[in-house]
Amino acid sequence: MKLPGNLKEDFSQGALDADTLSKDPFEQFERWFSEICEIDPDAPNAVSLATASGLGVPSVRTVLMKIYDVNGFVFFTNYGSRKAKDLEENPRAAMLFPWVRQGRQVIVRGPVSRIATSESLKYFLTRSRGSQLGAWASDQSSIISARGVLESKLEEVKQRFSAGEVPLPSFWGGYRLEPESMEFWQSQSDRLHDRFEYTRDANGDWVIARLSP
Ligand SMILES: Cc1cc2nc3c(=O)[nH]c(=O)nc-3n(C[C@H](O)[C@H](O)[C@H](O)COP(=O)(O)O)c2cc1C
Repeated sequence: MKLPGNLKEDFSQGALDADTLSKDPFEQFERWFSEICEIDPDAPNAVSLATASGLGVPSVRTVLMKIYDVNGFVFFTNYGSRKAKDLEENPRAAMLFPWVRQGRQVIVRGPVSRIATSESLKYFLTRSRGSQLGAWASDQSSIISARGVLESKLEEVKQRFSAGEVPLPSFWGGYRLEPESMEFWQSQSDRLHDRFEYTRDANGDWVIARLSP
């Protein structure tokens, strides 16, 4: 298959330089994230989450990053899913924010752990009843014979919880990726893009390196 000739590939806009870059990667993330939320509020928190099994077999999928602060980046999922199995075997991941239209990407790498149940519950309570029931209905990543299986599971959980609030499933909750490194990439003309990577030194302080694009 030939790709159409009119695909946009040059997203250069603005530079990223060592003088204006924040010393703190979370602050730099906050700057970029709030800019993107203003310009392009279409799911700027949709990230590609890469995991690998204990044998090193990689998997990637989109998830929504729902909470971020200096402790890391949180997403919610089913604790029995493929990604959860990967994380049990190999509790590390990479998260990529693909802000392609702004010519930017941020890549965060580090260890991942489950958040406290109380924190998952707090978030679960903010979800619509439909999403709460959906979390109960889906045995995420398992094989099902037809959509009807999901629909009857949904009916079953609707009946089961018809009397009151939908409780937090024990098999559902959040994970936090605690960054060991954060990379900021800004598209520039002639493929001479700007790339800065933050990593921690032996004292735990962030150090910044410019990387060749
Ligand atoms: C825009 C978008 C947002 C998604 N958000 C989530 C999410 O927050 N949590 C989640 O478990 N799956 C989410 N998914 C579905 C995942 O991409 C994936 O199919 C699912 O988590 C199963 O992945 P796994 O089998 O690798 O564990 C999202 C998919 C898309 C396209």
